[in-house]
Amino acid sequence: MRPLLLQELLALPATSEAPLLLCFEGCGWASCSNGQEAEAGLAVSLANQQLVQPGPLQQIQFADDMQEFTKFPTKTGRRSLSRSISQSSTDSYSSAASYTDSSDDEVSPREKQQTNSKGSSNFCVKNIKQAEFGRREIEIAEQDMSALISLRKRAQGEKPLAGAKIVGCTHITAQTAVLIETLCALGAQCRWSACNIYSTQNEVAAALAEAGVAVFAWKGESEDDFWWCIDRCVNVDGWQANMILDDGGDLTHWVYKKYPNIFKKIRGIVEESVTGVHRLYQLSKAGKLCVPAMNVNDSVTKQKFDNLYCCRESILDGLKRTTDVMFGGKQVVVCGYGEVGKGCCAALKALGAIVYVTEIDPICALQACMDGFRVVKLSEVIRQVDVVITCTGRDGGGAG
Ligand SMILES: NC(=O)c1ccc[n+]([C@@H]2O[C@H](COP(=O)([O-])OP(=O)(O)OC[C@H]3O[C@@H](n4cnc5c(N)ncnc54)[C@H](O)[C@@H]3O)[C@@H](O)[C@H]2O)c1
Repeated sequence: MRPLLLQELLALPATSEAPLLLCFEGCGWASCSNGQEAEAGLAVSLANQQLVQPGPLQQIQFADDMQEFTKFPTKTGRRSLSRSISQSSTDSYSSAASYTDSSDDEVSPREKQQTNSKGSSNFCVKNIKQAEFGRREIEIAEQDMSALISLRKRAQGEKPLAGAKIVGCTHITAQTAVLIETLCALGAQCRWSACNIYSTQNEVAAALAEAGVAVFAWKGESEDDFWWCIDRCVNVDGWQANMILDDGGDLTHWVYKKYPNIFKKIRGIVEESVTGVHRLYQLSKAGKLCVPAMNVNDSVTKQKFDNLYCCRESILDGLKRTTDVMFGGKQVVVCGYGEVGKGCCAALKALGAIVYVTEIDPICALQACMDGFRVVKLSEVIRQVDVVITCTGRDGGGAG
């Protein structure tokens, strides 16, 4: 099978009947800033659950397999990004994360003076007043995160992470809040920013800030905000990080490029995403990775649970929230039948969608066949499908 995916899609002329494109790849600035524009299709980022409104030009997100540590985002990246943050897309976000106070929507959190109930202003979030609602979401998340909660119970007396100064950059959601607060309970000092400009649950960020975590994040950050938040976590008088917890590699990249002295003193990096891991391998190959790094993406719990089962759940949530249409009978092509692809296909099949799969790996292609999916070339179905979902990862030659 030829590894031709989005290139074929991009070559299509603009048409009102163009399929909806759902891109599952990556999560950080890297994937946003490398976005290319297509003249056909409707782009949806699942991690963000944002719908980019139809128009003559739509944005498609690409994995950043070509991204190098030596490069910073370009102006072009900024342009594509700003187009993707439409008012309507922020309005349409209707999850638990939708608790917003429209009266202060216009004011950038960077312009606001906010303090938590203890008088600290060591944070920058959308609205600290949302903290109580965020706390309730965190408490619900805790009920499903028994491993972290039992770790807290077992070890918070000993403070095994005392001395750890962790700078983190992940999605800021109720679940990651449970992680951050566990690290704090075990003795770490944490400063946190968001790895994705859309996915921050503002009320959760507020709850973290109220609890004393130095969090710098809000939903709908600009490119400048994104790097500003990261910088506020790293560049602090009298405090120097000695560990990095990253999802996508942007924070690592920032510290490596801007603060080489801090980077040299880092004791360890934990990287969550396939994209960030790839960038670390590049750095290592170039002999520039002077810090031990842990590849979380390759852990069995990430691959076999997060990538498979979490995407199996979130695909439908993302599609429903952004389109609000029925998927029974819809024709969908899923590009890539890895862990994410398998989860997406299973969920869509269960809804009654007609699912096609493209694959370049013969074993995965055979697995798709054995699971009852039609394995095709994208060019065979691209004109008839309603939805295109890409989950090819970095091996997709920039396609996914
Ligand atoms: N949005 C999310 O919540 C989320 C969660 C996990 C992973 N991801 C992203 O999803 C992507 C896929 O992750 P995964 O764990 O399934 O990776 P994977 O390596 O298990 O699967 C990718 C599959 O795509 C196939 N492939 C590669 N190039 C192709 C091409 N040109 N045409 C057709 N098939 C091709 C590969 O053979 C492989 O089977 C990654 O970019 C990852 O970062 C997103």
